[in-house]
Amino acid sequence: MPNFGPVETSRGRIEDWHAELGEGWAVLFSHPRDYTPVCTTELGTAARMSGEFARRGVRLYSISLDGADSHAGWVRDVEQAPWAGGAEVDFPIIADTDGRVAELYGMFDPRERDGAGNAVTARAVFFIQGRRVRASLLYPASSGRDFDEMLRLIDSMQLADAKRVATPANWRPGDRAMVVPGLSDAEAEALFDGVDRVAVPSGRGYLRMVDPDTYRDEL
Ligand code: BEZ
Repeated sequence: MPNFGPVETSRGRIEDWHAELGEGWAVLFSHPRDYTPVCTTELGTAARMSGEFARRGVRLYSISLDGADSHAGWVRDVEQAPWAGGAEVDFPIIADTDGRVAELYGMFDPRERDGAGNAVTARAVFFIQGRRVRASLLYPASSGRDFDEMLRLIDSMQLADAKRVATPANWRPGDRAMVVPGLSDAEAEALFDGVDRVAVPSGRGYLRMVDPDTYRDEL
């Protein structure tokens, strides 16, 4: 993923984005403008849920075109508004005042403008591990994001990494997962206790369900 820096944030300066990321997990999420209603609900929600991201080893970084002083002032509103539930905004908000990062990452919303007619960033989300983008989401400025979905996606990716499974539609942590196509039946049987096949007209046994908790790292 593209590097940037130095940049100011609401919590100090980031000299070099890649060095800041290291090998760890991070979420970089943009919002259109400080002191706007939906953004205030989102940053408050992120503050309230930041412990859930930390528990998964994921650091949060927000970003918009506003300056670090604006971010610092707005944070006081975010923390007092109901969505934060009294939590502190304990992650940096990057001040991308020249739009360089927004340009690099394709974050600009093609339809939305601020009060002065300037382009603003959409609600982009980049899920990063070790300086690589593992997944991304893009919402228009008019639609606030679902932070539970971000956690669900992180849980899915971390489970897939650890246990060589894939997660089906609408999967939730604790649900059964699916054996990936690259594993043979013999490998799947060796790795998991109980591989259940869903019967389909083709007769092909590719719908293989397993309980990830039974994973044995033997192969
Ligand atoms: C908001 O945060 O409420 C917002 C910002 C830009 C466009 C639409 C909504």
